[in-house]
Amino acid sequence: MVQEKILQLLKRSSGYLSGEAISRQLSISRSGIWKNIQELRKDGYGITAVPHQGYRLEKIPDKLFVHEIQHGLGTRRFGQRAESFDEVASTMDLAFQAGINGAPEGTLVCAEGQTKGKGRMGRSWVSPPGQGLYFSLILRPPLAPDQAAKLTLLSAVAVGEALREGCGYDVRIKWPNDLLIQGRKLCGILTEMRAEMDQVRFVVVGVGVNVHGLEKDLPPGATSLAREALLQFPRGKVFSRVAVLQDILRAFEKRVDELYQNGFGPVLEQWRRLSDTLGSRVRVGEVEGTALDIDEYGGLMIRNDNGTVVKRMSGDVTHLRESR
Ligand code: BTN
Repeated sequence: MVQEKILQLLKRSSGYLSGEAISRQLSISRSGIWKNIQELRKDGYGITAVPHQGYRLEKIPDKLFVHEIQHGLGTRRFGQRAESFDEVASTMDLAFQAGINGAPEGTLVCAEGQTKGKGRMGRSWVSPPGQGLYFSLILRPPLAPDQAAKLTLLSAVAVGEALREGCGYDVRIKWPNDLLIQGRKLCGILTEMRAEMDQVRFVVVGVGVNVHGLEKDLPPGATSLAREALLQFPRGKVFSRVAVLQDILRAFEKRVDELYQNGFGPVLEQWRRLSDTLGSRVRVGEVEGTALDIDEYGGLMIRNDNGTVVKRMSGDVTHLRESR
């Protein structure tokens, strides 16, 4: 707590801040300040100390500290309850338990790394420490269980928009909710829910974004924000996972509020605009043909080669050659 207060003061101050000023504002001794500064340095904060001038914050570490995630976040609900861990098996399990315990909508569970990261269709999600964003969010939509797929599409739209606007890449959605750049997977989204017959109790949306990993660190066919930067700028670019996460939390809150106020139409429209799948030749299981559209339940409509339109509600889509 004291450390967070010291950080706040240092962030607000443009130049050096004297030990005396900190001591006065926080009512702690000069040696108390020094001890806390040492602790902050251990956490990776770069703080210079100059005799007769004071302290200055030079560097904020790329760590998912809750106080950094919430600093300047500006949301009302998303991320305002948050837990951050060094290592967990999967943020899905912790968030699911938090959901059972009554955690409110927008609760965030994130981790530096996961030992048993879960992917869609029973696959695993490789989650090396510090390389990506691994987090789960709790949603409590007033929807019937058969409407829950809407949140899968909404999640892809919200995260896709945040990454497009925050990082400037042409991020596209592959049905139902993978996010791709130039056909390579940047981000995966997994949704799990608990429901009664006629009402969703809560949904857990799990998001994994590849941030720092380079070619050698990534699964085949994947990309990361850092890898894309290297393709565009000779010296690449350094991303802050906290800043990316904040963008995503803001975009999520905006889209969820909109869903509750105006229904699902706007999300569906935006999903179509950002889609990489619609218009493409695709295969889902046994079905091969042209992806025509999605319906409001998230189902993918495919026209197969004898002209029949079939709908798929779940599965993996393979993009074959373009037929646009
Ligand atoms: C996919 O298969 O594309 C979905 C991957 C989802 C990965 C995220 S990482 C955070 C959360 N915790 C997990 O164990 N999985 C999701």
